[in-house]
Formats: sequence, structure tokens, C-alpha cells
Amino acid sequence: MSDTIARPDRFGSNAGQPMTRRDGLAKVTGTATFAADNAREGLLHAVYVPATIARGRVASLRTDAAEAHPGVIRVITPANRPALPGDPEAKPTRFSFAIEVLQDDLVRYAGQPVALVVAETIEAATEGARLVTATYEADPPRTDLDDAPDFGIDTPDFGAPGDVVHGDPEAGHAAASTAIDATYEIAPQYHNAMETHAIVAEWDGDRLLLDTPSQALSMSCAAYAYLFDIPVENVTLRSPYLGGGFGSKAIPNGPLVLAIIAARDLARPVKLMLTRQQMFGPVGHRGQTRQRIRLGADGDGALTVIDHENLAATSSFEMFLEPASNASQGLYAAKALRSRHRGVRLDIGTPGPMRAPGEASGSAVLECAVDEIAEAAGMDPLDFRLKNYAETEPGTGRPYSSKALRECYARGAEAFGWKDRPREPGKMRDEAGLLVGWGMGTAFFPSPMFAAEARATLRADGTAIVETSAADMGQGAWTSLAQIAADSLGLPLDSVEFRSGHSALPDGGVAGGSGHTATAGGALHAAGGNVIRQLGEMAAEQPDSPLFGAGNARLRAHGGRLHVEGDETRSDALVDILARAGKSELVASGKASRPDEDAKRHAMNSHGAVFAEIRVDPDLGQMRVTRLVGAFAAGRIINPRLAESQLKGGMIWGISFALHEEARHDRRTGRIVNADLAEYRVPVNADVRGLEVITVHEDDAYVNALGIKGVGEIGITGTVGAIGNAIHHATGKRFRRFPIRPRDLLAT
Ligand code: MOS
Repeated sequence: MSDTIARPDRFGSNAGQPMTRRDGLAKVTGTATFAADNAREGLLHAVYVPATIARGRVASLRTDAAEAHPGVIRVITPANRPALPGDPEAKPTRFSFAIEVLQDDLVRYAGQPVALVVAETIEAATEGARLVTATYEADPPRTDLDDAPDFGIDTPDFGAPGDVVHGDPEAGHAAASTAIDATYEIAPQYHNAMETHAIVAEWDGDRLLLDTPSQALSMSCAAYAYLFDIPVENVTLRSPYLGGGFGSKAIPNGPLVLAIIAARDLARPVKLMLTRQQMFGPVGHRGQTRQRIRLGADGDGALTVIDHENLAATSSFEMFLEPASNASQGLYAAKALRSRHRGVRLDIGTPGPMRAPGEASGSAVLECAVDEIAEAAGMDPLDFRLKNYAETEPGTGRPYSSKALRECYARGAEAFGWKDRPREPGKMRDEAGLLVGWGMGTAFFPSPMFAAEARATLRADGTAIVETSAADMGQGAWTSLAQIAADSLGLPLDSVEFRSGHSALPDGGVAGGSGHTATAGGALHAAGGNVIRQLGEMAAEQPDSPLFGAGNARLRAHGGRLHVEGDETRSDALVDILARAGKSELVASGKASRPDEDAKRHAMNSHGAVFAEIRVDPDLGQMRVTRLVGAFAAGRIINPRLAESQLKGGMIWGISFALHEEARHDRRTGRIVNADLAEYRVPVNADVRGLEVITVHEDDAYVNALGIKGVGEIGITGTVGAIGNAIHHATGKRFRRFPIRPRDLLAT
């Protein structure tokens, strides 16, 4: 394997262990400080007034009652808003969108801020916002895919997926002896992390201190620096804990910037926290899609074509098209592949990344379509997938860096009992007479990696501090990243203090794309490795050291000591080497990224197989997912407990996607009528039963130095299709709209 980019170093005693969360105690006892927990001397509170129409302009704003309300300090409107040096419609970073910050009187979507009330207390600000009265000149809102003309994409970019064609799709259609052609609709879904977006902003001259959750600290700082025309080093952003990010907290939004504007204008710290209702608008969402998928297969059940067209909603003023049909590019060995995207501009907040953007919506449709054509071809759905198993990346022919999908299929099927599945739908009932259905789906997610830096400091007492800015989204990075860092230094976890979530620390990259562990972990590993390398060089020159003259080539750190590999009699304590050198500490930095050449050489993805059992009451239309088994191969698993938790979280979101989540617009006002967690349905405990996760080990010598892929998003991808297919297997009916609702069952 001469083209191996780096051999995964052998790990010490920490990585691979199911350690409990290091932040767990702080979180359950309430001592973990989330952004909105921050209080400051002289703190003011800001609440914005949301537009009650979706399209048009604000004709008048009456603010006198609000201004007269006790405690209200200022009401900011487009008429008096302090100037913002940067252009709110520019995109200063790769993860930026145009933001709505009272720059004009246009209403672009329901819930857009039209005024900001700043007051001494949250109560006064809330009441003040209620007392602002707006009148509107409203135009008919466009909130559905049929409400506006569709358009193609001129320039593929972030948010504007390009078309991909491999082979000859028309020939593929012509060669098919079995074909399906189906169109699916997926309702819009809105970000609802437990922690709503929040900020505490404080200015000191032209220095800005922000407490706000961020999945991308350095990019967020760059965006704020641009908007307020200050040097990026003047922005300090603290984000030690996030109560969930899911992509929404990777991108700065209008309400946060309004709070910063108010803080500067009033020269006092300002806190703003979105209400649950306000999450339905300015902070991104999974955009509505309508996907047409056409598959063809020959007489042997080999796919001749996968042809996937996606129509996605974006806002009237910004571009983010859910890249759903991309999901069809990387999975099955079809002779021809085509994925295309078109957009529709609606009077909605700009959509954006939401856990497994593209793949979640796209694979839901692809996996249902594969089930349908397998049935049409008279094949078991698993056999069909194995028949069309891609040994190299479809279209490009690139080898996979690793791909244990076959083993995922086998282990998942075995654990689920798939072999006992009757081919024909509607054949299984439980003891209570409910229809039972079994379905499966393939899970798939790319393994990206961002660039990151980290620092490691070994101290004379044998403890270490390891640092990188990248924030923990709640997924367990405080623990798994510390495990990697401890191993890189050959120390027990308890000896390592991990610092993160602060912009002054080395740039930890982006906690997104399921790449956080690989990204920040890679940088931490490199930093620790550099400390150890320096110690090895020092020891080799210390006549008193057992490692004197040993050189660095075969040294390995574990148990607080440096060992000559293969000769356990020769070792030296890290602290002794440090002491002999007369140093109180040793500091080293490390970087990690994936060079373009490495990214080009291999296809890099996590894979999995999800099996679902559903029970359907045909009289009531009630559907319950009674079992979900997911087997996933995602490279090296750093912390099996936390990885399993991530995969389960994704699978639960799959239940949510398949059966629950949907934002609905009032057709007259364009407002979302179910903008709260009472009416916007998400699974509760009663909806989640029998969840089993199997992780299949993979050694991957190419994906990155540590062999880490990612587990954050893949769990949704196979699950939605598996549930849709299970419902078909129970009822014999195909439902082509997600979520699948009781009334859909009753209507057929
Ligand atoms: Mo994710 S949508 O990359 O946070």
C-alpha cells in the first residue's frame, strides 16, 4: 500500500473506549453555561417583532406605545436602524447567507424581524414588542412549489447543486425491461434544537465579545468582523456548549446580528434569545422538495439507469436548494446516472443545511424507489441491493477508501431476522390483528474533513492541556476529542484538560458535515504527536535517559512514558524527560486537513443498512415503528457509547422525517400555522421502540490519519426509506409524500 496517506497510528488506552460524557455532570446539574445563561452588568434584553405577512412591505410601524412602556430603552426600525458597515446581503464566508436586519421595509417571509425592542428586562422587551403595531401592503404569499415558476442553476455553488451525468441515461431507460417512474414530495422541516438561537453581545470600543452557539467559530467571527468592519481578531466568540446545532448554528442569522447592532448603538450588553416560534423562519430549515425518480433494470435485476430530478424551494432573496438528488450519485452500480436540480423562489425564510442535507431527503426517495423496482423485478429488496452493489464509485470508478456495506447488510439482516420476511405485502399480522411490515434502506453519507489546528501543552506534573476552538454541538466532542488527544500524548484521560469552544483557541474548523471528530481530532492528534516527537528528540540527547541515542523512529507514548517499540525494557517517563531538559512545560501545535490529491483519489463515505418494522392499524391509520435495526460502518469509532448515541439520534430523526415532521403554511397569510412543539410533531418516547445499533469496524488507511469517518448524519439516511418500505410491505400501498400521515393511509 505505497499510496497510503498515513497509517493510522495505534491508539492507546482511551480511543475505542465507551467513556461517559465529560460534560455530562455539568449538564445534568445545570452548571454548563449555554449562551443565554450569560448575564452581564448592565445587560439589556432584545425581542424582535415578527412580520405577520409573508410577502409585501411594511406600510407603517407605530412604536410610541412600545417606547412609552416602562423599561423599554429603544425601538429599532428600518427608519432609525444604525448603519451597518458591511452589506447584509453579501456572503463573507463559505457558510453565509444574506440576512434580514431591518435594512428596508420589505417583508420576505412571515416571521422576518420588522422591528427590535430593547429594554431593561425580558418582560419589558417582550411587552414592548407586543405593543409595536405594523400595517402592511401585502401581496399574495407563495409558499408551495406550485406557486412560482421554477428555474435552473447557472452557477453551481454552496446552495446551488450542479447537475451530474454519468453514462447515457436515455440508453439506460431504453435498455430497461423493468422501470419505475415516481414523484415524491417532502414537506418543509424546521430546525428545533432544544437550545434556540441566542446571543449576548457586548462592545468595548471596537472590540466585540459574543456568547453565542456556533458550529463554525472562525467563520462566524469572520462574518461578524465583516459586517461591523472590525479586524477579525477583535471578535471574541465563546461557544462552550450547544444545545444542538444540526447545521442551523453553522450560519450567522439576522436576529443575532440585530442584537449586536443594538449593543453597539446603546453601548450596553444585549441579550437576545429566539422563542420557539421564532425558530420557524430566520434560522434555516430543510426546504421542501419534489423529487421525480426513474429507475430501470434489466432482466437480471441490474440497474440500467438512476435518473433523479429534484425541485427544491428557496427564499425570494437567497439560494439554498436542498441537494437531494445528489444522494443518487454514490451508491448503486447503475450503468447510467443522472442527478439534476431546479429551484422555486418562495416567500419563506432561506432554507439551509439541516442534519444530512441532501442525503436525508434524497435517500428517502431513492431507497423507496429501489424497493419498488426490486418488487417489480420480483426480487427481495436486499438481494436487489446486493446485485447492484457498487465495488467502485458509480460513474467515476474511483475506489472507496473503505466500504464495509456488505457486512452492514449481513449483520443488520441477521439481527433483524430479515430472511423470514414474506415477499408479498400484507401477509403479516400481530396478535392484536395489526398489519406488520418489514422494510429496509441503505444508509450513506460522505466523509468530509475541514482544516483545523490544535495545541497541546505537556506540563511538568504529567498533566496536559489540549486546545482547539471547535465547539461541541452536544454530540460528545468534549469526550471523544479528549480521548484522541490523551492517546496522542500517551496519557490517561484524567490527566488531560480539554479546552474548546472559544475563538481565541487554535481554529478547530467546522463542526459540520459529520466531520468534526475527523477534523478537530486530526489536529489534536497532530499537536500531541508533535509534543511527543520533541520529547523523543530531547530524550535521545539526554545521557541519563534510557532512551539516550534511541532516535525518534520507533518511539511510542503510552502510560505517561515513551517506549521504544518492541523493547519494553527501554522507556522513560514524559515528566522525567521534561525535568532533565529543565522545562516546566512543552507546547506544540498541530494541523490537520485533507489534501486535494487525497480527496480525489478515493471515494470516502460512511455506509449502513437500516431495517424497520412497522405496525399499522388499518382502521385508525395509526403507524408505529416497533423495531429499527441499523448496522453502520463509519471507519474507526472513537467512543462506541457516543457514536451509538449519534446513530440512534439520526435513526430517531428518520422516524420523525418519515412519520411526523412537517411545517404547514396558512395559504392566505403565508404564516406557518404549527410553529411550536405542540403542533410541529416530533417523536416522543412512545414513538421510539426497539432501537438497535450495530457498528461494523472498518480500517481506513486513506480517509485521514486516524481512519475516522463520521456518524452524525448517516442515521437518518437509511431509516426514512426503510420505514416507507415497511409501510408498503404492511399495507401494499406506496405513499409518495413525507411525512406519511394517518389520513394518507385512511384516504386510500
Ligand atoms: Mo450539519 S447539517 O453539517 O450540522
